[in-house]
Amino acid sequence: MLNQKILQLAPEEQIYHPNLSFSARANVRDAQIYERAGANFEEFWAEEAQKLHWFRPWDKVLEWQSPFAQWFVGGKINACYNCIDRHLEGWRRNKAAIIFEGEPGDQLVLTYQDLYREVTKFANVLLGMGITKGDPVTIYMPMIPQVVIAMLACARIGAPHSLVFGGFSSEALRDRINDAESKVVVTADGVWRRGKSIPLKQNVDTAVAECPSVQKVVVVQRTGAETQMDADRDVWYHDVMKAAPSGCKPEIMDAEDILFILYTSGTTGRPKGIVHTTGGYLTAVASTHRNIFDLKEEDVYWCTADVGWITGHSYLVYGPLANGTTVMLFEGAPDYPERDRFWEVIEKYKVSLFYTAPTAIRLFMKWGEEWTNKRDLSSLRLLGSVGEPINPEAWLWYHKNIGKENCPIVDTWWQTETGSVMVAPLPGITPTKPGSATMPMPGVSVDVVDEMGEPVERGGTGYLVITKPWPSMLRTVYKDPQRYADTYWSRFEGMYFTGDGARKDEDGYIWVQGRVDDVINVSGHRIGTAEVESALVEHPAVAEAAVIGRKHELKGQAVSAFVTLREGIAWAPELEKDLKSHVAKKIGGLARPEEIICAWELPKTRSGKIMRRLLRDIAEGRVLGDTSTLADPTVVKQLLNQKTAL
Ligand code: WTA
Repeated sequence: MLNQKILQLAPEEQIYHPNLSFSARANVRDAQIYERAGANFEEFWAEEAQKLHWFRPWDKVLEWQSPFAQWFVGGKINACYNCIDRHLEGWRRNKAAIIFEGEPGDQLVLTYQDLYREVTKFANVLLGMGITKGDPVTIYMPMIPQVVIAMLACARIGAPHSLVFGGFSSEALRDRINDAESKVVVTADGVWRRGKSIPLKQNVDTAVAECPSVQKVVVVQRTGAETQMDADRDVWYHDVMKAAPSGCKPEIMDAEDILFILYTSGTTGRPKGIVHTTGGYLTAVASTHRNIFDLKEEDVYWCTADVGWITGHSYLVYGPLANGTTVMLFEGAPDYPERDRFWEVIEKYKVSLFYTAPTAIRLFMKWGEEWTNKRDLSSLRLLGSVGEPINPEAWLWYHKNIGKENCPIVDTWWQTETGSVMVAPLPGITPTKPGSATMPMPGVSVDVVDEMGEPVERGGTGYLVITKPWPSMLRTVYKDPQRYADTYWSRFEGMYFTGDGARKDEDGYIWVQGRVDDVINVSGHRIGTAEVESALVEHPAVAEAAVIGRKHELKGQAVSAFVTLREGIAWAPELEKDLKSHVAKKIGGLARPEEIICAWELPKTRSGKIMRRLLRDIAEGRVLGDTSTLADPTVVKQLLNQKTAL
């Protein structure tokens, strides 16, 4: 009877068990790991930390004065030393650390020994510019080897890096440089995108004109585009590297010294500088990378995320390199020159571990199997997903067409703030369900709670929280500890609030449902509605703006904006276009609204709160819910007419 029931389950309702040959060789084979780590999470993390190189051992694993944590108190460590130097003693020094393929098809392989030379040289360049421990360096670069070199050089001398994704506008860059007060900015002349050179340095020039702290800009020559250089301020990377000696003593860092700052969108207009420190962060990213991706010495590992996001930091740079991995670094787009470019890269370099985002998978689905079938993907042995909930259809397509039903899929839930993956299967032991990130990692305590902070029963839905500190947790918001406490630790007593909603199913599996706050997730990129709203109201035509995320077939969510105009301004298609470009200019192309709907007035409650739920219903074409609390119900009617006229 039961068997029959199982047979009748649709593929997306089935449980996928790890295949036996994979399990037999898996790094984690013993399911006891969950209980063992749960019984004493500090001991578990201390064991994981032992796998790194420490200049001095810690005195205490965890000092927890909620909401402020210190991990591996008194321990001394250097992240760059762990990612490079300790691999140089044996044969690994000749192992490929980075295999780079540029968009035009150029290639470069850096062994660990090469990486040591380049990183220590650049560390000396930074020291020569007066950068010392604690001075934040801003990095605004394409996906080229020099970005990894710059990050590790910062880590070597104890200068926190602050990466700004190359797709952000000059204004977004300016604000981040000013918040960090960087003296040095590292950038490139431009970046290749679908055969065209897109300028980056120009954005830096515009930004830095309003950044009093900046003394030097280092420019990598990537595209050869004509580039203005300020004689006093700007230097070419290749010039300064020529003169720099190799070899540079790693700074002895306290476990709790800052490794990096990474700005991310929140519910207010101002992005937050998320602060990660050294010892705990490196412990957790190395451990999770080894266990979730089942990393073996001979693997070629490819994470397609841009290094400007947390996924790039943790699972392109620090986790993999700390583990001595061969990392694929790819500059281009998946459809240039053809729609099989990713599969070409996998075939060419025999990539074995592949980590990408659901938004990309949905795009591949749309392009069809003609592109995936053209290439030999048999080197793959494990697939990963990150950035947003993966819909079961996309999961199944990934499983069938990329994994050839032979590769476990690890759906990894985490955030910029968590530093490392919090919820994911262990591929050798955890049965998976399409669309569920499964269960918390060993040593991590995640739960789903109701409004009152009480755990929901199995089968229930609520808010995703983390109930115990973890080594790679953000330590604070840069220069704003109050904001840290308020944003993450005030919603539920003694728990970290993720901002996500989730369901706990009958087996205790976690199904993350997306943000419950005012953050939109567009193609796996976080955008604050408040940021887009403040960009819109800065435009002279706009009186008021409300921005929501609506469902989008490929992007997961799309930015949908509602505006009211100032007296005397008429709505026109050109104005809509102009407003969209205005947002892109203010924040970056990723925040460009999909559509802008003009209203006489925004729907508000009688107390004046904008009813975003209603706006979402309108944007997604749903039958409207309760409108009785609206101050002026006719507003909705007008908006609906406007929407259908689009
Ligand atoms: C979402 C990216 C469902 C979630 C690592 C989270 C996910 C936000 C998943 C963090 C996943 C990320 N399943 N949702 N596997 N991974 N998210 O800071 O809403 O860029 O809060 O970090 O992405 O985005 P962030």
